[in-house]
Amino acid sequence: MQPIHIIFALPKIKIPVEKERVLSGIRPTGLLHLGNYFGAMRNYVRMQDEYNCYFFVADWHSLTTHTDSTTLPASVHRVIAENIACGLNPEKVCLYVQSDVPEIAELYLYLNMLAYKGELEKTVTFKEKARLHPENVNAGLLTYPVLQAADILIHRATKVPVGKDQEQNLEMARNFAQRFNHRYGDVLPEPHAFNYGGELVKILGLDGNGKMSKSENEMTTLYLADDDDLIRNKLKKAKTDGGPAEPYGQQPDFIENLFTLMQLVSSHDTYTKFLQDYNDSSAGNVQIRYGDMKKQLAEDMVNFIAPIRQKAADLQSDKATLGSIIQQGKEKARESADITLQMVRKAMGVKYY
Ligand code: TRP
Repeated sequence: MQPIHIIFALPKIKIPVEKERVLSGIRPTGLLHLGNYFGAMRNYVRMQDEYNCYFFVADWHSLTTHTDSTTLPASVHRVIAENIACGLNPEKVCLYVQSDVPEIAELYLYLNMLAYKGELEKTVTFKEKARLHPENVNAGLLTYPVLQAADILIHRATKVPVGKDQEQNLEMARNFAQRFNHRYGDVLPEPHAFNYGGELVKILGLDGNGKMSKSENEMTTLYLADDDDLIRNKLKKAKTDGGPAEPYGQQPDFIENLFTLMQLVSSHDTYTKFLQDYNDSSAGNVQIRYGDMKKQLAEDMVNFIAPIRQKAADLQSDKATLGSIIQQGKEKARESADITLQMVRKAMGVKYY
């Protein structure tokens, strides 16, 4: 008897394509400000549908500078609440606190064996912190980049949205991943900096001197927690000058910054009107009225910040909801972290039954 060959048409199975993993950490030190919003948080919100996102509060990292234990819980709550108020959806992203995930500490221990004292001592952030606080050059500070690498590698994240100041830490995370893979086999993908949407918006302090700051120059930084009158007051005091000397004159930093802010929070018509006034101005014929511009900007800024501040405040006073959001984040984060850690242990031979 001839065997009967039956050819089945294979059913089309949709294999879900795993979204790329994005991860970033926020230190719970200082207050979040407009620079953080437009430089980071707004992008996180945009990424949440497209990527598999992990965002966390780096509370262990903040301990390197011996933070105040009495204020740490409130700072962590505030960061979580402010991120949600800015539009992060804890149902879509994994939003958690670093110290809730002990798997990170274990990976940090393994990676420490692959990190060399010499390279750690050479990092810019370490040297800077050691210079500023010679009385507290602790081993946690030295191994800060190792912990940061563990943060990223524990979820095998490949895209890390961070500013320029974090590039060296990211390069070190790549080095540690490479060393691990070289020694134990391919487990940890290399992470890269990720500038979502290309150009980063740079927001300066209202005096035009450097970026807005989480902890310094409070009167020249607009915080997401500022109340309406404080916002008005800060903008009223924002630095201006006598106006441009010639039509279409070059804007000094502090003026350009006001236009940047206006472009971000005011209507297009308002922005173009003041810009036109600026461009039509020259010495002896100053069309631009900085007083009016700052008043208008203040009102638009109040309308922008107030709902965020309000939502963040409501959430911070609702400890039950906040607590369950943090716990939900913890569960999701540990689930993902455990998968990596099992792979790491197996590759290293740290697995005995
Ligand atoms: N070092 C980062 C900062 O100072 C915070 C941070 C900790 C982080 N772990 C991270 C950022 C992992 C990105 C990925 O801002």
